[in-house]
Amino acid sequence: MPQIRSPLVPVVVLDDAAQAAPLADALIAGGLPIVEITLRTPAGLAAIERLADRGDISVGAGTVLNPDQLDQALDAGAEFIVSPGSSPALMERAASRQAWLIPGAATASEILQVLEWGMTEIKFFPAAASGGKELLKALAAPFRQVHFIPTGGIGPANLAQYLSLSCVSAVGGSWMVPRRAITEGDFAGIKRLVSQAAGLAAGIVAEKNQRRSNARS
Ligand code: 3PG
Repeated sequence: MPQIRSPLVPVVVLDDAAQAAPLADALIAGGLPIVEITLRTPAGLAAIERLADRGDISVGAGTVLNPDQLDQALDAGAEFIVSPGSSPALMERAASRQAWLIPGAATASEILQVLEWGMTEIKFFPAAASGGKELLKALAAPFRQVHFIPTGGIGPANLAQYLSLSCVSAVGGSWMVPRRAITEGDFAGIKRLVSQAAGLAAGIVAEKNQRRSNARS
C-alpha cells in the first residue's frame, strides 16, 4: 500500500469545479503538490476529474462515506481515498478494488478493524475534538505499525504538537485553503498560506528527523 509522502494534506471544499485548476496551481506554487478534495459539495467529483490527469499534483477524494462514493471517486481518477470513519463495507470495497484507502479512526477498536484489512495508514479524526495529541500518543502506543494522519481542528498554532510525534506521518487540514478565499478567487493569498504552512511543516519534520538520528547515534 502506498503512503502519503507530503507532511501536509490540504483538505478542500470546492463550490465550483472551475476553481480546481487555479487552486492546484496555488498549491503547487506554494510547495504542496497534493490535495484532498472532499465530496461534501456536488463539485467535488468534477474537480477530481479535472485534476486527475494533470500529473503534477497528487489528487485524493475526501469525506468518502460509503462504497458507492468510493467507486465514484476512483472512477473520477482519485489516487487516494480518505474517509472520516472505517466502516467494514467501505474497507471491503477498497480492498476489492485495490484502492488506496485512508480510513478514519479515533478509538483502539476502530484501529483494530482497520488493521484487519491490512491497512496501516489512518486518519485520526476529529483530532482536536476527540482528545488531541494526548489521546493520539496514548492510542498510538500499542500500534507501532500505524502511521497516523491527524485531521480536524489543526492549524499553524498546534501543528507542531501533532507533526512532531513519531507516530504521525502527515497532518491534514483546511487552514491553508480557506473556502472563502477559494470562492473569492484569492489564489495569491492561498499560495501565501500554503507556502507558510509548507515552511512550518518542513521545519517541524527536520527537527523530528534530527531527534531521530540523534537517538540512533
Ligand atoms: C476533514 O474533512 O478532514 C476535516 O474537516 C478538516 O478539518 P479542518 O477543517 O478542521 O482542518
